[in-house]
Amino acid sequence: MASVSNERDNTGSSNQMWGGRFADGPSAIMREINASIPFDKALWRQDIAGSKAHVAMLAQQGIVTAEDAATISDGLDAVAAEYEADGVPEDWDLEDIHMTTESRLAQIVGPAAGRLHTARSRNDQVATDFRLWVREAIDQADAGLLALQQALVTRAGEHAGSIMPGFTHLQTAQPVTLGHHLMAYYEMIRRDRSRFADARARLNESPLGSAALAGTGFPIDREMTSKALGFDRPTANSLDAVSDRDFALDYLMAAAQCSLHLSRLAEEMIIWASQPYGFVRMPDALSTGSSIMPQKKNPDAAELVRGHSGRIVGCATALMVTMKGLPLAYSKDMQDDKPPVFEAASLLALSIAAMTGMVADATFNTDRMRQAAELGYATATDLADWLVREADIPFREAHHITGAAVKLAEAQGVALDQLSLAELQQIDSRIDDRVFAALSVDASVASRASYGGTAPERVRQQVAAARMALGMEE
Ligand code: ARG
Repeated sequence: MASVSNERDNTGSSNQMWGGRFADGPSAIMREINASIPFDKALWRQDIAGSKAHVAMLAQQGIVTAEDAATISDGLDAVAAEYEADGVPEDWDLEDIHMTTESRLAQIVGPAAGRLHTARSRNDQVATDFRLWVREAIDQADAGLLALQQALVTRAGEHAGSIMPGFTHLQTAQPVTLGHHLMAYYEMIRRDRSRFADARARLNESPLGSAALAGTGFPIDREMTSKALGFDRPTANSLDAVSDRDFALDYLMAAAQCSLHLSRLAEEMIIWASQPYGFVRMPDALSTGSSIMPQKKNPDAAELVRGHSGRIVGCATALMVTMKGLPLAYSKDMQDDKPPVFEAASLLALSIAAMTGMVADATFNTDRMRQAAELGYATATDLADWLVREADIPFREAHHITGAAVKLAEAQGVALDQLSLAELQQIDSRIDDRVFAALSVDASVASRASYGGTAPERVRQQVAAARMALGMEE
């Protein structure tokens, strides 16, 4: 009978059932499954910074001599210079970035290197490094989103008075302005930036000095390392500090929600760029041709932004499920926290950049948009509102009368304001010729001047306030 784990053959070399490509048996499997260096080498800058802060503190507290600390600190600079020049070497036996750096440090400075890890564990070390990395990712996302907002606001200012159909259920509903539509995305991105800012504020506590899980008996100064690394304060509970990945989840969830917004904007651009709409021409630089159909210009960048949002949401889900049910404190599952965060960060940065370019350089076909607004009976609500206002008809009845007018116009294949007064009066005698002023798309948008509404004057105010908030006014 074949046994999956053959205990007598613990080299595994001859076990075809599970040895497979691991010619050296279980030890090779352990080496590979344990190694995080292939991905956590991305933390090298943060790891060096954390170690330098730690060793400076050890010296100040008299835990290592000033001389050893200087040797170690200079050695860390030398390791950093090597990484910068040649990249981080990937030796699976050294497992991760922490051991890789310490081992290289020992080769460069000798036995003094052994004192660096005093009063520290890889558990508080990796928690510190990762917080520093995520903090930078948040700052980068924020800078990218600011640029996207600036592009949105600039285009919205140009098109504060450009009329297009507004949709509900993707059916023409009421005329709006393109500026108003673009400013809707400005608002979404404003909330995204605020979510990232919240995440950053909660993240900014230093786990360093929590050691393996219980703190340390050495007289360390956690305030000092916290300050040196730009944190607001040290974390208050060592068990929590080494096992907490909320900061990564906060980041991923903010990234996921942001990616949903980018995906919605991408989707609108895709729809608007399709020939039956023809509302927008995508920038050439963010489109591709077809290898077989010469007339085609495909919105691939927008489609990939839409696709990437699925992957970013997947990253958030992956880490949530990884963390679920882990007992305190550190467990090795937590090493799997990094790939989803790294993946989401690079997908998000690309998506933000692509949408910024698309918004900044798209050509809007405003004639076509206006035409579509005029064709879709988008001012039907204006007719109903007019009947309420000018003829004192209850709204429900006005709605009914308007329905009849739309039906007639549809049958004749004309717009509402192309029906004659006689035809309108046939439907309801209380209609008079003042109604035509209310039926144009221009009158319709101009009338929606309630706060937050689509009237061009309102949109200009929204744009002005946004420009001020973004520091675009000198
Ligand atoms: N490579 C590890 C990680 O990323 C570092 C922490 C290892 N700690 C431990 N107790 N084995 O999670």
